[in-house]
Amino acid sequence: MTGLFTPLELRKNITARNRIWLAPLTNMQSHADGTLSDDELHFLSRRADGGFGLIETCAAHVSQDGKAWPGELGVHDDAMLPGLTRLAARIHQGGALVSAQLFHGGLRADPAVSGLEKWSASEHSEDGVHCRAGTEADIQGAIDAFANAARRCAQAGFDSVELHGAHGYLLSQFLSTVYNRREDRWGGSLENRSRLIRETVRAVRRAAPSLVLAVRLSPEDFGQAKGLDLDETIEVAKWLAEDGMEILHLSLWRSALNTTKRPQEHATPLFRAALPSHVRIVVAGAIWTREEAEAQLALGADAVALGRAAIANHDWPERIRRDADIHRAPVAPETLLGEGLTPTFVEYMRRWKNFVAA
Ligand SMILES: Cc1cc2nc3c(=O)[nH]c(=O)nc-3n(C[C@H](O)[C@H](O)[C@H](O)COP(=O)(O)O)c2cc1C
Repeated sequence: MTGLFTPLELRKNITARNRIWLAPLTNMQSHADGTLSDDELHFLSRRADGGFGLIETCAAHVSQDGKAWPGELGVHDDAMLPGLTRLAARIHQGGALVSAQLFHGGLRADPAVSGLEKWSASEHSEDGVHCRAGTEADIQGAIDAFANAARRCAQAGFDSVELHGAHGYLLSQFLSTVYNRREDRWGGSLENRSRLIRETVRAVRRAAPSLVLAVRLSPEDFGQAKGLDLDETIEVAKWLAEDGMEILHLSLWRSALNTTKRPQEHATPLFRAALPSHVRIVVAGAIWTREEAEAQLALGADAVALGRAAIANHDWPERIRRDADIHRAPVAPETLLGEGLTPTFVEYMRRWKNFVAA
């Protein structure tokens, strides 16, 4: 029987030692110019040493105009290569595979951080901040930026890249009927709204054929992800599989729950039934215990990705293998420092409700 500790082959010669992944986690620990810092390396490598099968980086900007947070890792420039190479080598030393999450914030980019004007599918104003509609050149530039970022990751020795198509960032904004009101070939029908993510997948495939290609999607509206429909997302996932997607990462936030659109059905079996069997499915969302993780495998997931449980427990896989206790939220700041977070990251975690103990 397949269990959490059954190795997972992603491609011939690229096998994760188990089915427990570190989810992509923005952690504010990179240098201001996007280069890797020792703090971020320490945070990620402790999780590789702690037994995770695959380590994902935080959302890492593919171009400066897509940068959304201070201390965000960059994959946007060849100057990032030494840090990325060091990161890949160190994660491999810990026995895990390594994947970079390729990201563009679109209307959620922050000009105060990027120094550049922001753009998205359509014009948008939120909290008094304006975002302009992207030109054809912006869109082509973004596709090229994703492809170049993937090429850099291949050069640095990564095993995989994941396109961040979830949570209402650029690729998700184009998929959305709320954020995308374009009337050209990049908007309108689902075929047009999915053109950017599809062309990006194909461009990444061509630029970095050695990398296992993953895409993260929000199946339905949640938080900042708006204007998404479950059946449309299933259709898009099918098209992405034709384009070369090898792993679908479903961001569910509450993975124990069924879908909003069809309360009798869980997302994982719906996507499993729609996708060719060679496409792997990874699921994230409020997984804290071994039972919760195994329940996702039983629903048809090939692996689970942990966010908050992995922040609180750098060695979650080792702990559950030994049946040892885990730290549960709210977690004391000193415990988090001991788990390899910097004070800056602990402070950021206070924005996540009930995570850091007062
Ligand atoms: C501190 C923090 C940072 C996150 N950063 C990212 C990110 O950079 N990219 C992304 O796709 N999701 C990000 N997420 C979402 C997580 O990857 C994950 O899907 C979500 O937290 C649900 O899993 P969990 O309940 O195990 O934390 C972040 C979540 C947290 C808590």
